[in-house]
Amino acid sequence: MTFETILLDKQEGVGLITLNRPDALNALNSKLLQELGEALLALDADAEIGAIVVTGSEKAFAAGADIKEMSSRSFAEVLKMDMFAEINNVFARVRKPVIAAVSGYALGGGCEIAMACDFIIAAENAKFGQPEIKLGVIPGIGGSQRLTRLVGKSKAMDMMLTGRMMDASEAERSGLVSRVLPTEDMLDSAMEVASSIADLSAPSVALAKEATNRALETTLAEGLLFERRAFHSLFATEDQKEGMNAFIEKRQPQFKNC
Ligand code: CAA
Repeated sequence: MTFETILLDKQEGVGLITLNRPDALNALNSKLLQELGEALLALDADAEIGAIVVTGSEKAFAAGADIKEMSSRSFAEVLKMDMFAEINNVFARVRKPVIAAVSGYALGGGCEIAMACDFIIAAENAKFGQPEIKLGVIPGIGGSQRLTRLVGKSKAMDMMLTGRMMDASEAERSGLVSRVLPTEDMLDSAMEVASSIADLSAPSVALAKEATNRALETTLAEGLLFERRAFHSLFATEDQKEGMNAFIEKRQPQFKNC
């Protein structure tokens, strides 16, 4: 596959997608969003890949949707194209874990793409924000919903209504990111985290992701039942026997993803 606006690489069971419009701080134009979606689905279907990392440059993960591309669009146009529906649909379809490795600015749609990933690892220089309100609009790739679920109503309202940025330390305190790492090591560390997940049993990884996502979608009783049934179903895998026997025999498991 060849792309204009992203780079695609594979290392040790991990698919690495690098947003690559450096002159525009990786602003998300239609081409980039289309290519990001294609790359995510291709990696999800690739039997050699167990986890995916999405990253940008050291200065910017992505500075938002491309303001220059969308500034002259009318309501009728953006409604007709259902702008930004497709990339949300893609993230909903990807079964493998997707980690956002964020350095620099993750603003507007950039913050939203990071939040659409399963978790965010941030560099110390990362800055998150939903500044759309300053442009006369609001987030359109899920910011009002995902940020509120991640950091709670008060901080989400503060971010959405003022458009201010949050640094990495505040993002970690607020639960927006799972860890903060030195900027120069962040991507290598995120790749190691992804590689360690790719080494695990793929059925258990997929069900762990599904069960965790259920927590945001359903009642506690339904979520607990879903989790229990998923847990029970993993006893049908060879990997469950291998994982538990390896623990008892004090050795590393050799998972076969079945
Ligand atoms: N869209 C298009 N181009 C952008 C862009 C964006 N979101 N963000 C930055 N760029 C471009 C700039 O226009 C500039 O291009 P030129 O050199 O051709 O002028 C280049 O990237 C470098 O940007 P700056 O000169 O502004 O860099 P800086 O270091 O001075 O500032 C910044 C960095 C604070 C991130 C600033 O670029 C900025 O505020 N960007 C816009 C952030 C924003 O408002 N994002 C939300 C977009 S709307 C959205 O995302 C909707 C949604 O929910 C989906």
